[in-house]
Amino acid sequence: MNSLFNSALKQSSAVRRDLDQFSQSPATSSPALQGQIAASLSSLSRTIDDYSALSKKELIPEKQQKAFDRVKNFRTELTDYRAQFDRLRKEREEAQSVTNRNELLGRRPHHAATPENPYAQSSLPTSSAFAPTSSGLSFGAGPSNHTRETQALREQSFFATTNTQLDDFLDRGRAVLADLGQQREVLKGTQRRLYSVANTLGISGDTIRMVERRARQDKWIFWGGVAFIMFAARQSFNLFQKRAFSASASQASKVAVLGAAGGIGQPLSLLLKLNPRVSELALYDIRGGPGVAADLSHINTNSTVTGYNPDAAGLRDCLKDSEIILIPAGVPRKPGMTRDDLFNTNASIVRDLAKAAAEAAPKAHVLVIANPVNSTVPIVSEVYKAKGVYDPKRLFGVTTLDVVRASRFISQVQKTDPAGEKVPVVGGHSGVTIVPLLSQSNHASISGETRDALVNRIQFGGDEVVKAKDGAGSATLSMAMAGARFAESLLRAAQGEKGVIEPTFVDSPLYKDQGIDFFASRVELGPNGVEQIHPVGQVNEYEQKLLDACLVDLKKNIQKGVDFVKANP
Ligand SMILES: NC(=O)c1ccc[n+]([C@@H]2O[C@H](COP(=O)([O-])OP(=O)(O)OC[C@H]3O[C@@H](n4cnc5c(N)ncnc54)[C@H](O)[C@@H]3O)[C@@H](O)[C@H]2O)c1
Repeated sequence: MNSLFNSALKQSSAVRRDLDQFSQSPATSSPALQGQIAASLSSLSRTIDDYSALSKKELIPEKQQKAFDRVKNFRTELTDYRAQFDRLRKEREEAQSVTNRNELLGRRPHHAATPENPYAQSSLPTSSAFAPTSSGLSFGAGPSNHTRETQALREQSFFATTNTQLDDFLDRGRAVLADLGQQREVLKGTQRRLYSVANTLGISGDTIRMVERRARQDKWIFWGGVAFIMFAARQSFNLFQKRAFSASASQASKVAVLGAAGGIGQPLSLLLKLNPRVSELALYDIRGGPGVAADLSHINTNSTVTGYNPDAAGLRDCLKDSEIILIPAGVPRKPGMTRDDLFNTNASIVRDLAKAAAEAAPKAHVLVIANPVNSTVPIVSEVYKAKGVYDPKRLFGVTTLDVVRASRFISQVQKTDPAGEKVPVVGGHSGVTIVPLLSQSNHASISGETRDALVNRIQFGGDEVVKAKDGAGSATLSMAMAGARFAESLLRAAQGEKGVIEPTFVDSPLYKDQGIDFFASRVELGPNGVEQIHPVGQVNEYEQKLLDACLVDLKKNIQKGVDFVKANP
């Protein structure tokens, strides 16, 4: 809008300057000056119109009012200019008619030949219809009259020619002005379009600025989105990797069960068949391994189940490439028997199976279920040591059933959900070596007979089952569940999951200073088995007494296993 105002100002000044020039000598001013003024006035008029139109679009009221005032002033000036121009043109016409009349009436013959005389035209006709014949004037005029007539004819001819030429010049001038006007119109049109474009761009600029502002705001959302997408993609990728790893790990997760056809072996194998982390289930028993495998193999999960023949080759093939080896092989208790009473039978079974495992799959995690765990674990350890493949991080005595029982029993006393109950059970896995730490449970205040009864039940809960089964064996189903849970925890830890903690009887530093190399406590599991052995933690006086009693028996149980291997390598 400012450029239009400046343009109008310049045009107005130019018109004023031309009018001043015109007014100095209206009679002699050139027709071109008049044409220029006329064209300038019409241009000024159009510029004012444009400025007026644009000022109506002005959004700021103060600016718009200022523009309206300017338009008003310009229009007043334009009216003045036109009036002045009309007046000057009239003056010029009047002056010219006076000049023409004077010239027409004031011509003399002697002027005809003068060089500066514009009427001196040798081409003019020399004869005239009025020319005197030799016999005298045709209508009776004398010679002087003839000269005057000749002069008048010449002047008439001059006027005719001059007028024609002047009309011609004016026509050309008008044509040029019209052409210029046209060009100016084109330029003005272009200018209008440019202004329009500028306006549009102005609006678009605002829009663009708004969009840019939004874009800057959105940029964070965008980058946040990108970060989120990247994070989600990464998580998905990790999950995918984890699953892929899980799949590959489960594909590589061959799990062997030795004693698979027994009371524990069968339900344990069933639960492992249902575990997607297990890809290959290898079942071995001195009786009925292939039958159990055939049965389980019909379950519609992806893992393969293979039952191996009860011979050395079958055992070796079963163990080969296993990641986890579970050993529930052995004889169970009968009513009135302690776990230690099983030693004589089960020690040799476990020793022999350990030998095979140390040779066929020395890197596998060995989970000993066969009782007495307090002794069978040291037996495996001694066998592995003898074979030079002992890795204390990969040997576990399965005491999971003790914590399973403890959480269930305490929930029965407290009438709570056993899933929310966690009772640390430390020590070993037989009688008084089983030490529940109720002070570290959700019910630290349990005391008196309730506590005594609860602790006793946890320590000797297995006897309930043995008694109830009345000679048909000991705990099998609950043990299968506990064994499957421990295997699952180990596989989770092996597949990268952190913070997987299970209580288990392992080669432990906690009481080594008292000559007790194995002890059950909370153990964090990792890809290589034992990741971290948690200490027993704060115990009360009552629990300390339990621990003291535990350590005495535990030491003997461990030593018994060690001694057995030494005596029976
Ligand atoms: N750790 C625990 O918490 C816990 C709990 C309950 C039972 N157990 C123990 O688990 C063991 C198994 O109990 P169960 O009830 O399944 O007994 P079971 O008799 O029902 O089954 C034992 C199986 O082991 C097989 N077996 C025996 N010798 C073998 C050998 N040399 N190689 C391969 N297989 C062999 C038998 O054929 C039988 O199928 C017992 O020692 C029992 O005390 C431990």
